[in-house]
Amino acid sequence: MLLSIESSCDDSSLALTRLEDAKLLWHAKISQEKEHSAHGGVVPELASRLHAHNLPLLLQKAKEFLTKENQDPFNLLKAIALTTRPGLAITLLEGLMMAKALALSLKLPLISVDHLKGHVYSLFINQATPRFPLSVLLVSGGHTLIVEAHGPTEMCIIAKSLDDSLGESFDKVARMLGLGYPGGPVVERLARLCPVGEEYPFPLPLKQKSTLAFSFSGLKNAVRLAISNEQPLSQEKQARICAGFQKIACAHLLHKVRFYLQHTQVTRFGLVGGVSANAYIRTQLEALCTEFGAELLLAPLEFCTDNAAMIGRAGVVNYHNKIFADLQTLDISPQTEILENS
Ligand code: KG4
Ligand code: ZN
Repeated sequence: MLLSIESSCDDSSLALTRLEDAKLLWHAKISQEKEHSAHGGVVPELASRLHAHNLPLLLQKAKEFLTKENQDPFNLLKAIALTTRPGLAITLLEGLMMAKALALSLKLPLISVDHLKGHVYSLFINQATPRFPLSVLLVSGGHTLIVEAHGPTEMCIIAKSLDDSLGESFDKVARMLGLGYPGGPVVERLARLCPVGEEYPFPLPLKQKSTLAFSFSGLKNAVRLAISNEQPLSQEKQARICAGFQKIACAHLLHKVRFYLQHTQVTRFGLVGGVSANAYIRTQLEALCTEFGAELLLAPLEFCTDNAAMIGRAGVVNYHNKIFADLQTLDISPQTEILENS
């Protein structure tokens, strides 16, 4: 059994995964949305202190689960996997400290997992055999990428955002409208109140460019201007702005994914990351994949945002490939290990 730890941003999460068939046996998560909401975004130091409080609570719960299986609960563990990159340094360190302490005291090997690879593996939780090759659109609070996964550990970045990520843009739009944090779910909810055809008309980013890249800073600025032009903001106007932002952000994603699919033979396409919980984006991408004859893979909604189950699923692959980390030298990094295609 593998214990996995996730603490790259504002979600503390632990999971237990069976190594033989990658079955997810137990998982739990404590989100910090309420604590960060008042600040309109994640405050790293607060997040770090909350992980220091929450991770031991989760470990206690994991122990209770294991005790039901075995009198000597930690005897069942064969390795500890953890997110080491990319993420906020001071929150990653909380996970690293817990993982090292456990590895040292229980004499278990450590498995270092790249958070972005973890998101890719959110598509294969509870699946013994992940299917590759696979292309993935990863849309989260920190990243907007197209990743090609050629095999279980061979991945490269094909396209990225030139500026902000899509999740961060959802959060900023919500913040500008005074809707709290995280912005994605509340912007999506408000957008549903706007009748089709009434969405605020925002310009499509990078419309003329045939480059494979994303950009959201111009769209964010257009939303800022719309908000100041539409004062005072009724709920109806807020809904028009949210729907307009979501529609154009999604049109931009699809414009670039279409360009990618036109130039690449893809039979399997995945959508992962926190923003992949968005029903509008899921539906639009489904239609695009159908048009290109590609199968769309989606993670269950509960595993779209950050969680330790996906880290455990990625960790199982490392375990079977005997990719272990050194207890003394293992460190965290703000950068992903996935290389860009040059
Ligand atoms: O993957 P994730 O949990 O954390 C990172 O790795 O960054 O993604 C969090 C992001 C936040 O920006 C949040 O606003 C966004 O995912 N998000 C959504 C939705 N649910 C979460 N964005 C759009 N629609 C949603 N339903
Ligand atoms: Zn994430």
